[in-house]
Parts: sequence; structure tokens; C-alpha cells
Amino acid sequence: MVNNRSASSHTPVLLAEALRALAVQPGGRYVDCTLGSGGHALAILEHSSPGGQLLGIDADPFALEIAKGRLQQYKESTLLVNDNFVNLQSICIKYDFFPVHGILLDLGLSSLQLNGGDRGFSFQYDAPLDMRFDPNQKISAADVVNSTPEARLAQIIRTYGEEGHYNRITREIIKERPIKTTRQLAELIEKSIGRHGRIHPATKTFQALRIAVNHELEYLESALRQAVDLLGYEGRLVVISYHSLEDRIVKQFMQKEAKGCICPPGTPICVCGHTPRIRLINKKVITPAEAEIHTNPRSRSAKLRAAERLTTQDDSYVTDDDHALLTIAKSRGWRRPVLLEKIRMAFLAA
Ligand SMILES: C[S@@+](CC[C@H](N)C(=O)[O-])C[C@H]1O[C@@H](n2cnc3c(N)ncnc32)[C@H](O)[C@@H]1O
Repeated sequence: MVNNRSASSHTPVLLAEALRALAVQPGGRYVDCTLGSGGHALAILEHSSPGGQLLGIDADPFALEIAKGRLQQYKESTLLVNDNFVNLQSICIKYDFFPVHGILLDLGLSSLQLNGGDRGFSFQYDAPLDMRFDPNQKISAADVVNSTPEARLAQIIRTYGEEGHYNRITREIIKERPIKTTRQLAELIEKSIGRHGRIHPATKTFQALRIAVNHELEYLESALRQAVDLLGYEGRLVVISYHSLEDRIVKQFMQKEAKGCICPPGTPICVCGHTPRIRLINKKVITPAEAEIHTNPRSRSAKLRAAERLTTQDDSYVTDDDHALLTIAKSRGWRRPVLLEKIRMAFLAA
């Protein structure tokens, strides 16, 4: 088994674009929800210096270890937490790290995980079927493959892998269970659907299993909702995604949050009372330039979307003279104390 975890490295994707979209400023406070090996985090700390602070989260303790070494020179302004970003709000509350100027999610897995031969993310290396970002999590890919009922397994492969041959692959898996290793699974898939073109026939199924094992889509939806609440006025939310399922969630979330009324079309008078909580920074998705794709082919599917927090009715800054208080609040930049106090109380009561 190959373990080249420390031999390879992860190049941060869309780095300049992410810094620009986050509008990183000296003294700013930022959360990197997907710290990885700390490439984006390091650049954020450099650009927010002096006085910048960063809270870095990663579910993978090995990633955190690498990032810790890389961010050593900023250790006084950095807080690194081994947790899942589905707990974003409670982590920020625990460490009294809100409101913030910017939140970054650079989704999926890092090159270190993909090339870490013992993690089971890739069919390039023979390894136990694992695929957990967090090795302490109970359910691994082997559990999903070997214990999921046929209909559900087919649904996972179809929906999360967008794999048209989901029925044939599932039937073959059910016939051959238990399947223990990446190579066993990759060979079984190749046997069941054959090989067409350059892309390995197991690619989509491996993506599907990784998404299912790590609850990637549910956790993303939840983290996006939490992130908007944690942003101060004009704070930025930046998300880099790597496949259409993630990007669709980010796009739809941002579009909905940026809208005023969301009543069904034809409703004569607005009854939803929905007000925009964010404004879209880039109406058109940002993708890597040819030069970046050339030097870092892994970036080719990346899509960056960004939004900026607006004040809303939620942000009732007190009541007497809303306009004057709102002006003060805006001039102070980004504090939304009433809403944030509400979040803190809800968290403490839970
Ligand atoms: C693409 S990498 C980030 C790379 C990083 N931006 C850098 O420059 O090195 C994604 C990271 O997010 C982590 N991750 C994925 N889903 C997560 C989740 N739900 N909670 C916490 N970390 C997660 C993975 O473990 C991985 O280290």
C-alpha cells in the first residue's frame, strides 16, 4: 500500500480570485471552513496582516497537522479546529469568533487525501474502501457498499455520481459483496460497464460513495445557511465547488438569499416577507484561467461563487431611531449585535 501523504502537496485553487472575492483586509476576521493544507488560509493571513485573525476548520486531523506547520508564523492569530463545518455556528460561538469579515469553503477533498494511498479515495491506489474525511467517523465507504440495501445503493450511485449505468453497477456489487478494497470495486465496475474513453469507468461511482460517506451535500446546505448568519455587514461568503451537484446547491442558495419576495409567481400581494440577506458579487460563475488549469489540472472543474452580507429586518439594531442606528452600525462596518445575540441565546438554550 502506498502512503505518499507527506510526499505530495495541495496547490490552492483560484487563490487570487478567492482573496479578491473575500475582499481580505488588514485586521479582518476570517473563517476557512476547509483548511486542508492551509494554502488559502496562509494567503488570507498574509493579506489580513497586521491584525488579521483566522479560524480554520477541517474534519481531517492529518490535514490540520499539515496546516498547523504551514501557518506557524501566524500562530498567534490563528485558531485551528478539528471538526466538521456542519457545526460552523457552534464552533464560532464556542470560540467567540463572530461576526466575521469573510467565510471560505473550498469543497471536496485535497490532493493530499486523493493521493494518500491509504485513504481509499482513489482507485489509483489499492487500499481499504474508506473515504472518510474524519477517520473517527463510524461509517466508511465499505459500510455503504456492503450494507446499503440495493435500491438505496442504486439511488446513491445515480444521484451523487450522476452515473447512467447505476443499475448494472449496483447489481454487480450486490452479487460480489463483500467488497473490501478500492481495486476490487474499480475492477468490478470496469467488468460490469466496460471502459469507454479516457475517464476511468469507476470515477462517478467513487464520487458518489465519497459524497454519501461524508454527507457532503446535506452538510454544505447547512453550512451555507449558518455562514450567512455569522457574517457581519458587508462580510463575504466565498465558495469553490468542483462538481455540478455542489455548484447547483451554492448557486440556488445564493440566488434565493439574494432575492426579495419568494412568493409563488402570480401571488397578488407578498405574504412571505422575505428580504434579501446577501447580494451576489459575481453574477457569472468564476472559473480558472487556462494558465491555472495548465499548471494545476485539478483546478479544471472549479467554480467560484461569492456573495456579500446585507443588513435585513433581522438585524434590528434597536428600535428608537432605526435609521440613525443603522447608519452608526454601517459606519462601524459590520456588527449586527441583536441578531448575533439571538443566535448565541438559541445555541446556549439548545
Ligand atoms: C479542497 S481541500 C481544501 C484545500 C485548502 N483550501 C488548501 O488551500 O489547502 C478540502 C478540505 O476540506 C475538508 N472538508 C471537506 N468536507 C468537510 C466538512 N464537512 N467539514 C470539515 N472539513 C471538510 C477536507 O478534509 C479537505 O481537507
